[in-house]
Amino acid sequence: MAIRVRLFRPGDAPRIAEIVQRCLRDVNSRDYPQHIIDTMCAHFTAERFIELSASRLIYLAEGDRVVGTVSREGNKVYTMFVDPDFAAQGIGRQLMQQVEVSAMRDGYDHMETGASITAHGFYLRLGYTDVRTSETEFGLNYILRKALPPAQAARPL
Ligand SMILES: CC(C)(COP(=O)(O)OP(=O)(O)OC[C@H]1O[C@@H](n2cnc3c(N)ncnc32)[C@H](O)[C@@H]1OP(=O)(O)O)[C@@H](O)C(=O)NCCC(=O)NCCS
Repeated sequence: MAIRVRLFRPGDAPRIAEIVQRCLRDVNSRDYPQHIIDTMCAHFTAERFIELSASRLIYLAEGDRVVGTVSREGNKVYTMFVDPDFAAQGIGRQLMQQVEVSAMRDGYDHMETGASITAHGFYLRLGYTDVRTSETEFGLNYILRKALPPAQAARPL
């Protein structure tokens, strides 16, 4: 399935919330206690994504339907989730490439992300390195960074 990355529209919010809830319940629940999963599920509703779209650039990976999402605010990465049915097909990597190129074009020299225990290995694989850990309302997070090349080196998408 060919995947393209595009920006969020308000009508996407229910599908994004559905993907996030599925990830949390089916995947992240292996690494986090139930009360943290419940807190996150209550937080990441469709309405929340519409609110967040005012301050963040929300990207979607779409084939026949929307299958993944990631957001950027400045050089910070948020809410990276891929539908578990479409995991391990390079969709997370494709979303991160979009985020990194757009941050490069805005002049940032590095990206920063707060990774779940579940996604830590994914970010390491993409070249991010550990800075510290952080205890949040959503449990343990790894703060990682990756240097970005200057904007003129960015390939067009
Ligand atoms: C983490 C997540 C976004 C990865 O998305 P994905 O589309 O499955 O990842 P990709 O297929 O693009 O993987 C890219 C590379 O990272 C590797 N990788 C993916 N997940 C990994 C993990 N958990 N640990 C180690 N490596 C991982 C892949 O093997 C691949 O390596 P390769 O290029 O050498 O083959 C997805 O599994 C997910 O949504 N997880 C649950 C939600 C979550 O925790 N989100 C992060 C919140 S911070």
